[in-house]
Amino acid sequence: MEQFKISHNLYLFRSGGGNIPITFNQYLIMGEEPLLIHTGNSKQAVELIPMLKDILGNRTLSYIFISHFEGDECGGISQVMESFPKALPICSQITARQLASFGLEYNIMIKNPGETLETSDYKLEFIAYPSEVHLWEGLLVMEAKQRMLFSSDLFIHFDKINEIAVNSNLEDELERITEQQIPDGHLIERLKTTLLQYNIKDIAPGHGPFIKLWPTNQ
Ligand SMILES: [Fe+2]
Ligand SMILES: [Fe+2]
Repeated sequence: MEQFKISHNLYLFRSGGGNIPITFNQYLIMGEEPLLIHTGNSKQAVELIPMLKDILGNRTLSYIFISHFEGDECGGISQVMESFPKALPICSQITARQLASFGLEYNIMIKNPGETLETSDYKLEFIAYPSEVHLWEGLLVMEAKQRMLFSSDLFIHFDKINEIAVNSNLEDELERITEQQIPDGHLIERLKTTLLQYNIKDIAPGHGPFIKLWPTNQ
């Protein structure tokens, strides 16, 4: 697992790549109330935890954002919660139900699309994310202070999977949402319309390179 500092308070942890045709990203936003975005799977979490502790120093995790229920997004939740028992997972109602159905019962902060969470270091705006095969209602999150969209399984640049960052623009990225990712044209259009309302400067996907959007969105 590699670690990169993306901005003054944003860290990227990346594993996979090489012979594996995909990379897995987790992010940490540091501050008064540190926030982890995705745990990685249980194996990745074991590698991630000491790296988090290193950066956190005498702080602990306050929140763990989970965009949807899948191994690479939250498979390491029990390990992470064991190491940071005061952390509060943040997810949709459906994701919370799925966690509980696997016996993963924690105090959870349930968020609905349109709701926000503001701390002194970041402001999260939650966006509806119909996630993949079953169109489970997950969440994307926009961090309004840095105008950064955490896009989970959307906007993966498979052709440049091992690069740290690529340049693009929002319109091109929106065109890249496929019916394999959201198998409902109406929901794709709804998501595109929603994302166009945000002034997104960068995209931090769950897989592949970080995406810097061209000056049209700066
Ligand atoms: Fe996923
Ligand atoms: Fe994923």
